[in-house]
Amino acid sequence: MIILSEVEYSYPQDKNVSVKALTEITFKIKKGQQIGLLGPNGSGKSTLLNVINGILKPSKGQVNIFGLDPFNPMQKWEAKKKVPILFQNPENNLIAATVKDDIAFGLENMGINTQEIRKRVEKIIHELDIKKISNREPHQLSAGQKQLVALSGLLALEPEFLLLDEPGSLLDFKGWTMLKSAIDKLRIDKGLGIIWATNNLEEVIEADLWILLSKGRIIKKDKPEYFIRNFELLEEYNLYLTPDLKIAREMIINGKKLDLKKYWQDEWVDKLCS
Ligand SMILES: Nc1ncnc2c1ncn2[C@@H]1O[C@H](COP(=O)(O)OP(=O)(O)O)[C@@H](O)[C@H]1O
Ligand SMILES: [Mg+2]
Repeated sequence: MIILSEVEYSYPQDKNVSVKALTEITFKIKKGQQIGLLGPNGSGKSTLLNVINGILKPSKGQVNIFGLDPFNPMQKWEAKKKVPILFQNPENNLIAATVKDDIAFGLENMGINTQEIRKRVEKIIHELDIKKISNREPHQLSAGQKQLVALSGLLALEPEFLLLDEPGSLLDFKGWTMLKSAIDKLRIDKGLGIIWATNNLEEVIEADLWILLSKGRIIKKDKPEYFIRNFELLEEYNLYLTPDLKIAREMIINGKKLDLKKYWQDEWVDKLCS
């Protein structure tokens, strides 16, 4: 479980001034849950993910990652491994000279033996079906492929949750589709928990819960269906339904049972047309 209690975070500015980026953040996220973290630019999504991962230490409150304290030096690496972050910009996610080295990078830092590293890397290459690009150099890859390689590096850590900081927002449609299907596979086949920060509602339509942030506060935490019914709330925070979601909304309001988890499946269209 990921538990945050009364978390506050301020970015230090000049001498006595600071910018408060998170205020009174309290929630529990259970193992395997799928969370969409929504909010306009500057609402605190990235700051919150960085607090969960232990990169930013809150000025107040507690963070508990599967029983570990990410701000206790004895526990922080173990905690970080459980909730690694995929960043927005593919250029910031890759470090090593080859794809395989990149996937292995985090493991090497943890002092795992070479044979075990090789085994884990091969397993992930197979799982994410990236054998074709596994001997390339990262700079030869497309943006979408870079995100897949970075994702593989996170998986090598055998995490509990993936923290996704708008990783699809700089990709073209092909790259986005690749990333989305890889993430789908992980959540469906492996039951991996996901906290996905985004402004693209369709990206997280299958989530169990959405958390809406504004100015560093949680405005609402509820099922996607609640937000779609009450879309005025989203609009107030500059989030808009796509035409497809507007149709879904009409149908839900008219009493039709729609399972939003099937939004990206072919049968969704059949259901809408029936
Ligand atoms: N490095 C930083 N230094 C100072 N202020 C920052 C920094 N990063 C973010 N902020 C401020 O913190 C608030 C939350 O930002 P952020 O977490 O990046 O939001 P989001 O990811 O939702 O766009 C904003 O007011 C932003 O200007
Ligand atoms: Mg951000």
